[in-house]
Amino acid sequence: MLLQRLASKVSVLAPAKINLFLELLEKRPDGFHELETVMVAVSLFDRLEITPLATSEIELDCAWETGQTAQANQWEDPAQFLGDLPPMESNLVYRAVKLLQTEENVPHGARIILRKRIPSASGFGGASSDAAAALMAANLAWNLGCSINRLSELAASLGSDIPFFLHAGQLGSGLAMATGRGEKIATFPGKRLDLVLIRPAGGLSTPEVFRRCRIPASPESAQPLLASLQSDQQMSLPPTLTNRLSLPARELSSTIDRVANACEQLDVVAHQMSGSGSGYFAICRNRPHAMRVAARLRAANVGMVFPVTTCGIRALRN
Ligand code: C5P
Repeated sequence: MLLQRLASKVSVLAPAKINLFLELLEKRPDGFHELETVMVAVSLFDRLEITPLATSEIELDCAWETGQTAQANQWEDPAQFLGDLPPMESNLVYRAVKLLQTEENVPHGARIILRKRIPSASGFGGASSDAAAALMAANLAWNLGCSINRLSELAASLGSDIPFFLHAGQLGSGLAMATGRGEKIATFPGKRLDLVLIRPAGGLSTPEVFRRCRIPASPESAQPLLASLQSDQQMSLPPTLTNRLSLPARELSSTIDRVANACEQLDVVAHQMSGSGSGYFAICRNRPHAMRVAARLRAANVGMVFPVTTCGIRALRN
């Protein structure tokens, strides 16, 4: 998370994430699933700006920033691939800032501008990252001094992935393991990966994918992946990737198989669906390789394509 204060305005770059590992452990009485997931932030960013207001109103102006994305992907209607934007009151950014205002008895309001590039309903965590960015920016704009743990406590009540985006920046590698519902975070150092993100046409609903999932009798462990991420042996990575939501997601959307097949034809290190889909990623050998893979995937017409690298999301305060 790149957090910058300019006079009274605070601006933040909110990164996407991918799940390198996602295993389900059990279904809980509250309907959520106990899981173990390894996530890493990647360099596809939404931009958020918060200006404090003297009145108590919270205003949100949210729009797709499609220019660059559309040009790179040569889509005539990028909104079809990026997804729908929720109305203001149900936007996680609005709800997060409102919750912080209420819980911390803040007399001021805020004007929030959100410009989105991370496709929604893709498993890339866009809405959760925006909410984390909004909490950090509002905390700074209102001079509240809330700790990451306090913000995380508030965040967990709004969405399982938000604490990851608050905590992962603490270390700077952007790599973390999340357990519980996804809200218990342990950060790790990790090497940089060059990747390509792919968002096929048509997103998936997270609750719908979870509804179709099965808990495995013998869950996979994330330890081999974490060990592989510390080693220099890139080829040790492929067998350690897992996503237990991949099967139910593929039952719901055949476009994921098309993307998987397209990646299989290319000489990538590994490929997998992210989160609850339908977003997908291919790990490449280096940046030039990622650019070549991105061009081939664009030519194959499988969806929107974004070459990215894993990135730290350390807060910059000035
Ligand atoms: O917490 P979040 O809003 O991201 O969750 C969306 C939906 O995904 C939940 O309503 C639930 O159906 C499912 N989910 C789950 N177990 C988790 C996280 C999410 O079943 N650990």
